[in-house]
Amino acid sequence: MNSKFVSVATAAIMTMAAGAANAEPQAEVLHWWTSGGEAKSVAVLQQEFDGRGGTWTDMPVAGGGGDAAMTALRARVLAGNAPTAVQLKGPAIQEWYEEGVLADISSVAKANGWADVLPPSIANHMKCEGTWCAAPVNVHRIDWIWANADVLSKNGIKMPTTWAEFNAAAAKLQAAGVTPLAHGGQAWQDATVFEAVALGIGGADFFQKAFVDLDPATLKSDTMVKVFDQMRTMRGFVDSNFSGRDWNLATAMVMNGEAAFQIMGDWAKGEFLAAGKKPGVDFLCASTPGEGFLYNVDSFAMFSVDGKDKKDGQLLLAELIVGKNFQKVFNLNKGSIPARVDVALDEFDSCAHTSAKDMADSNKGGSLLPSYAHGMALRGAQAGAITDVVTAHFNSDMSSADAVKMLADAVANSL
Ligand code: BGC
Repeated sequence: MNSKFVSVATAAIMTMAAGAANAEPQAEVLHWWTSGGEAKSVAVLQQEFDGRGGTWTDMPVAGGGGDAAMTALRARVLAGNAPTAVQLKGPAIQEWYEEGVLADISSVAKANGWADVLPPSIANHMKCEGTWCAAPVNVHRIDWIWANADVLSKNGIKMPTTWAEFNAAAAKLQAAGVTPLAHGGQAWQDATVFEAVALGIGGADFFQKAFVDLDPATLKSDTMVKVFDQMRTMRGFVDSNFSGRDWNLATAMVMNGEAAFQIMGDWAKGEFLAAGKKPGVDFLCASTPGEGFLYNVDSFAMFSVDGKDKKDGQLLLAELIVGKNFQKVFNLNKGSIPARVDVALDEFDSCAHTSAKDMADSNKGGSLLPSYAHGMALRGAQAGAITDVVTAHFNSDMSSADAVKMLADAVANSL
């Protein structure tokens, strides 16, 4: 055997041996962050993962709110080929845990002291029978109203603080030829507006009873009739092309002055920021009229997979996700605030400061509530039953009285 061949062969064997001992962490990551602001945010995680020697395989499934991503996930798990890491949140984490397909990431949580840096309300969502089964990235707020600053000032309108003011402002804008409410007619967007209206009109106790406790009397109450009445009024404030429009295209309508307002979680702010818009200058943020704070915590769950490289990838990802630097940079881009309590907010804008303050105040006042529309309050079947009614009402001339009856029936049948 000539010596050249020996040395090449030896080198190859050595490389293989080194590869087996130090397999690079691998992660196939399923998520639905595909808009401008979202893509910029998730890129931060990918960069940190690559920077630590990991190999990231991206599996983005477009579709706001994640319905399409969850369908893709089900198909992958059924086929016995689960992705390594999945954007998953709220009770869906527990639902997948009960299927026996989630990996335990308690070792990372303990080594990095998650219990000391995450508020208990967030940590509880990440635990499955006492083990850590998900890693939180942020706190998004749902009950926001976004506005084009110029359009408001040109029309002599201030950010509305009551629903009556909102309706009056919207009527004035409509008369001036501006679309009052930028909206995309997709079921989850209808549900997003609906839960903000429900909290605003009914208050925190009403929201809790209706969308957390599923109390039948509250679901068909006179207050719920008023909520649907306001939804009917809102329907009159959207343009005729709203059907099927993606949420970020609705945000773009506010950016370019075609529309005045959008009611959407603060991932909309991520979109304004990615387009170079400044809060308080180009766009305005305010909580939707009424008390309370609807939270939506994005998180990642790791699915049971084979192979040291993939398992290492899961542990590395979990560590990075709750890492202090990631929580800052990701959330500066995403429009949300960090899940960790020890990340300084100095570099964050005024909307983020409002969010942090309102979250703390509503936590004290008992009005910090999980979003039903974004999968934090209910399991899939119940949330889906409510959203079906909300969207059927919004897209027809159904009366509010019929809607509340249908709502109570749909929820009862889903239990
Ligand atoms: C997620 C956000 C995402 C939004 C739009 C929400 O359910 O929590 O992270 O930006 O959907 O896709």
